[in-house]
Amino acid sequence: MRLSSSLIAAASLSLLSINSVHGYGILGHTLTGQVAQLFLTPETARQVKEILSPYYDGLLSKAAPWPDTIKGQAKYRWASIFHYVNTPGDNPPESCRFEYNYSGHDVVNGLFNMTSQLLQYKLTEPTTPEDKSTREDALRFFVHFMGDVHQPLHASGKERGGNNASAKWGRARTSLHRIWDGQLILKDIKDRFDNNPKAYLDNMVDMTKNVWQPEASNWTYCTPEKNQGDNPWSESTKLITKLCPMEWAREMNQLDCSFVWKDYDPMRDYSGEYFDGVTGEKNNYLVQKLIAMSGVRMAAILNDIYDPPVPRTRNPLKDQYRDEAIVDLPYNIRFVKQE
Ligand SMILES: *[C@@H]1O[C@H](CO)[C@@H](O)[C@H](O)[C@H]1NC(C)=O
Ligand SMILES: *[C@@H]1O[C@H](CO)[C@@H](O)[C@H](O)[C@H]1NC(C)=O
Ligand SMILES: *[C@@H]1O[C@H](CO)[C@@H](O)[C@H](O)[C@H]1NC(C)=O
Ligand SMILES: *[C@@H]1O[C@H](CO)[C@@H](O)[C@H](O)[C@H]1NC(C)=O
Repeated sequence: MRLSSSLIAAASLSLLSINSVHGYGILGHTLTGQVAQLFLTPETARQVKEILSPYYDGLLSKAAPWPDTIKGQAKYRWASIFHYVNTPGDNPPESCRFEYNYSGHDVVNGLFNMTSQLLQYKLTEPTTPEDKSTREDALRFFVHFMGDVHQPLHASGKERGGNNASAKWGRARTSLHRIWDGQLILKDIKDRFDNNPKAYLDNMVDMTKNVWQPEASNWTYCTPEKNQGDNPWSESTKLITKLCPMEWAREMNQLDCSFVWKDYDPMRDYSGEYFDGVTGEKNNYLVQKLIAMSGVRMAAILNDIYDPPVPRTRNPLKDQYRDEAIVDLPYNIRFVKQE
C-alpha cells in the first residue's frame, strides 16, 4: 500500500522526537491522518490533494504534524494556544467537568474556525496564491487540531495538561503529557505489532469495522445544538453536523478522570501496569481507539465538506442545509479503501 513508507519514515522520526510536548507527537498525528485517509471518498481525496502542496502527495498524514513545526514563526504565533482547551474548575481524577466557555483561544474554537474557513473556500474558490495558502493552512490546522482534541490531556488544564506532571517511564523521567503524546503509542506498536506501524494501522482500521463497529457508528453522531453553543462560527459550521468539538472535549476530559490521571504517582513506572491498562483488551485498546476515533471523525467532516451525500443548494451558508439526510444514515461512516 502506498501509504506505508511515509508512515514508517514518520515512525522512525518520532523515535528521535519523542520529547515533543505539543499534542500527539509526529507518530500520533501521522496515524490519525492515515486512518482518515482510508475513510475519505475518492472525490474528497481528490480535492484534498488539490488543496495541499505537491510535497504532501495528497496525504493528510504528511500534512498533520505541520502545525507543530511552525510554532516559532511570527506569522503563526496566534496558533499555539489553539492546540488544547483549558478547563477551569476541573481536577482529575477527583472531578472532571468540562463546561465550555467560549474564550476564542482554544482547540474547540480552532476547529470551528478552520472548518468555517474550509467551507468558505468551498463556496468561493480562492484565486490568489495568498488565499490558496490560507486555505492550505486551514486544512493542515484542521487535521492537526482533530488529533490534538483526541489526546485527553489536551482537554484538561491541570498541571499544564500534564506537562508539569512528572512521571517515570522505565528508568527515564518524563511527564504524563509526553507519555500520552507518544510513549504509549510507540510501546504499543513495539509490543503488540513487532514495531510495525503499518500493522498497527491495519489492525486499527480492522477494529473500527469490526470490534468497535457498534460504537464507531456513533463516533460521527452528535447534536449540533448541544455542541455548537455560543461561538462566532455557529452559523456557518452548523452545516457540518458532525463537527462536535465540545462533545469530544467533554468525552476526553472524562477520560482524564477514569484513566489518565487515575492514581497519579510520579514514582510509578508508567510503562508497566498503567500501560497494560490503557492499551490492552481490558479497556478496549483505548490508546489505539482514540486515534481511530480522531481519524474517522476527521474523514466524516472532510467528506461532508468536499463530497456531501446530498447535493448542496446554491448557497449552503444561507439556505437550510438538509442535515437530517446525513444524521439519519445508520452507519454513516463510509468505508472507502484506497489502494
Ligand atoms: C464562564 O464565563 C462566565 C462569564 O465570563 C463565568 O461567569 C462562568 O463562571 C464561566 N464558567 C466556567 C465553567 O468557567
Ligand atoms: C481564525 O483563524 C485565523 C487564521 O486562519 C486567525 O487569524 C483568527 O484569529 C482566528 N479567529 C479566531 C476568532 O480565533
Ligand atoms: C509548570 O512548571 C513550570 C516550570 O517548572 C513552572 O514555571 C510553572 O509555574 C508550572 N505551572 C504549573 C501550572 O504548575
Ligand atoms: C449509539 O447512540 C445511540 C443514540 O444516542 C444509543 O442509543 C446507542 O446506545 C449508542 N450505541 C453505542 C454502541 O454506543
